[in-house]
Amino acid sequence: MSAEPKTHSVSSRQRCPQAKGLESVAPLVRTVEENPDPIPTTIKGTVPTWINGSFLRNGPGKFEFGKDRYTHWFDGMAMMHRFHICEGSVTYSSQFLRSDSYVLNSEKDRIVVSEFGTLAMPDPCKNIFARFFSHFQTPKATDNANVNFVKYKGDYYVSTETNYMRRVNPQSLETKEKVDWSQYIAVNSATAHPHYDREGATYNMGNSYGKSGFFYNIIRVPPAETDAAAVDSADLTGAKVICSIRASEPRKPSYYHSFVMSENYIVFIEQPIKLDLLTFMLYRIQGKSFHKIMTWEPQHDTVFHLVNRHTGKESEVKYRAAPMITLHQINAFEENGFLVMDMCCGDDGEVIGDFTLENLRRGSGEEMDKVYMTHEELHDDELLQYGGLEFPHINYDRCNGRPYRYFYACGFGHVFSDSLLKMDVHTKELKVWRYPGLYPSEPVFVASPKATEEDDGVVLSVIITPREEKSTFLLILDAKTFAELGRAEVPVNIPYGTHGVFNVMG
Ligand SMILES: [Fe+2]
Repeated sequence: MSAEPKTHSVSSRQRCPQAKGLESVAPLVRTVEENPDPIPTTIKGTVPTWINGSFLRNGPGKFEFGKDRYTHWFDGMAMMHRFHICEGSVTYSSQFLRSDSYVLNSEKDRIVVSEFGTLAMPDPCKNIFARFFSHFQTPKATDNANVNFVKYKGDYYVSTETNYMRRVNPQSLETKEKVDWSQYIAVNSATAHPHYDREGATYNMGNSYGKSGFFYNIIRVPPAETDAAAVDSADLTGAKVICSIRASEPRKPSYYHSFVMSENYIVFIEQPIKLDLLTFMLYRIQGKSFHKIMTWEPQHDTVFHLVNRHTGKESEVKYRAAPMITLHQINAFEENGFLVMDMCCGDDGEVIGDFTLENLRRGSGEEMDKVYMTHEELHDDELLQYGGLEFPHINYDRCNGRPYRYFYACGFGHVFSDSLLKMDVHTKELKVWRYPGLYPSEPVFVASPKATEEDDGVVLSVIITPREEKSTFLLILDAKTFAELGRAEVPVNIPYGTHGVFNVMG
């Protein structure tokens, strides 16, 4: 937060041009068949022969059982997709996650395990929040892990934001055992966006609550032991809570979707999107919907908690900024005595839509030690024509926690992303890939083996369209120029997905 302040008198919502005449994207949220056996693709252009590995993606892929339908796309059953790239050719395979939810629903041919659409929230963002608050519910949370692929001790898992993950085989996409975080450490959840250090440890965050209050916990899972026998089972042993951050208001915790990690610090953002736990319990008893207890509370600052990730010690200084909403952060690094962090965020918490605004003006119990921060926008107004950006990715292996120059993201000119963007954070120059009717997934960077510069490599994205059946393709862009190198056309339909990773192990 070293930059010059730059203030705006209007909100981001007012500054963004209103989209008009948007096309229907209904075909992008239809149930599809799985393809467990890899199928060939048709290559147009060139797939660089140095790319070897698998592009793995997650997302909802089945939206009904029998006559029962989910009311929200985010409730759809997790489908895993794999684009295996080897010596210039690409194959595609997919499988539904055999979660307990999927298996039970399939056996009964109806929806017997509730997902979050039962909360009747029509919009994806709201549903993400609803998912978070399901942590407070009994009966148990779902294991329909349709958000991301994550790694612990070298094993792949699929994850959502509940206490459950599912281990998977990243080659066959076979579903392995269910893992319950609370069996290892005292947390009730973990995000779908962990961080990895260069020694192989994984860091994540999860909640706990009890008599002593509500805590946001930082979790560390150590690297796999090198001399350990290769055992085909989930292993989170050695997982530790390295820091428990007390919620500013014990009965009103904040929602969070991710966090950032620099070389020495983890930064947790406590944003003023809050859940009133007491009202929540009352509404559950009364059977009321959740939307009235989720509140955007712009009378509160955003609080940045800084934790030394080596010692687990939380800084006594609380860093504060104007109220903001953020899902995905981009990167954080230390430079010249400053901690710089970049994120996708907005100043308009109305994105949570129908949630009742509670503009109760009251003291927020501020600590004596505090630092108020301003921000710099990493873009200029040119970005607004692409609807803002989300799903940021960097050259993670090289740059996470360190000074960096480029990130890649999706532009949102529609409810689903309709462009790919490359941002130079030094010059704020924007490179764009955008064609009408084509909807790209989150871009993932893959470095070339002889890379010297940060953007020596390619960007992978899966492109889908509602305009034509079975016209999906894997797009390969030169990360430096953002020019298309090639595409691998897959003769299947793929629904709009969530997050993905590149697995160099094939
Ligand atoms: Fe996410």
